Amino acid sequence: MAYPVPATQDSFGRTRRTDAWWVTPTAILLSFVAFIGYSTWAAFQPRELAHFGPYTSPFFSPDLTRLIPGFKWSPALLILWIPAGFRLTCYYGRKAYYRSVAFSPQACTVGKGDRSYRGETALPWILNNLHRYFLYIIVVLVIFHWIHFFDAFVFEGRFGMGVGSLVVAADTIFLTLYVCSCHSLRHLVGGNVDCFSCCAGGKGRHHAWKSVSALNVYHNTFFWLSLFAVGFADLYVRMCAMGYWHDVRIF
Ligand code: FES
Repeated sequence: MAYPVPATQDSFGRTRRTDAWWVTPTAILLSFVAFIGYSTWAAFQPRELAHFGPYTSPFFSPDLTRLIPGFKWSPALLILWIPAGFRLTCYYGRKAYYRSVAFSPQACTVGKGDRSYRGETALPWILNNLHRYFLYIIVVLVIFHWIHFFDAFVFEGRFGMGVGSLVVAADTIFLTLYVCSCHSLRHLVGGNVDCFSCCAGGKGRHHAWKSVSALNVYHNTFFWLSLFAVGFADLYVRMCAMGYWHDVRIF
């Protein structure tokens, strides 16, 4: 479909588009509000509700309060800044909230009003350049997710599986796919060399770069799948711990 001349410098919201262009940014905005609202509420809940049987809520792991004697607040407050920073600086995340939250612009050829744009060269958007550092830190969280993945299949010392095992597994796998499809990771493993056959470990780096590139095509999908999966994993553990939901053992 061919759209008319871009109208991003036009008055706010003005466009000649006749399709339902506002549906996607509105759905994204509502999803962000729901997730941020839920995760903020969950972060202040008692830590006892973050565990049920072999399951651990991903919002409460790792428990860094063990390193800080006397810390009485929720463990979630010490770690949630990591995934929050990672997602806020994510290349796809930026596109999502620039359009749905900042309305700058809301969609292609939709006016954003008379607002200057300096790119990511000044505060606050220059902070988005921290993304690669959040990538290094999030890898530690992924390792903890995998520890809880294996824990979720051990019931009283024996291998087993409940619905919660699958919920925890989905969270771990989608988070791993989201991180492994990261643009910064793609650059890290192979984007900064001109010639794979000329550098040390070039064959392995080329293979890694091709693998991350293949996943990178679906990065936006993994962004949403992992966001919903981590929220649902916390909700599932919490509801079971509160006695509202019953965890069904599959075997
Ligand atoms: S670009 Fe999205 S997680 Fe790195």
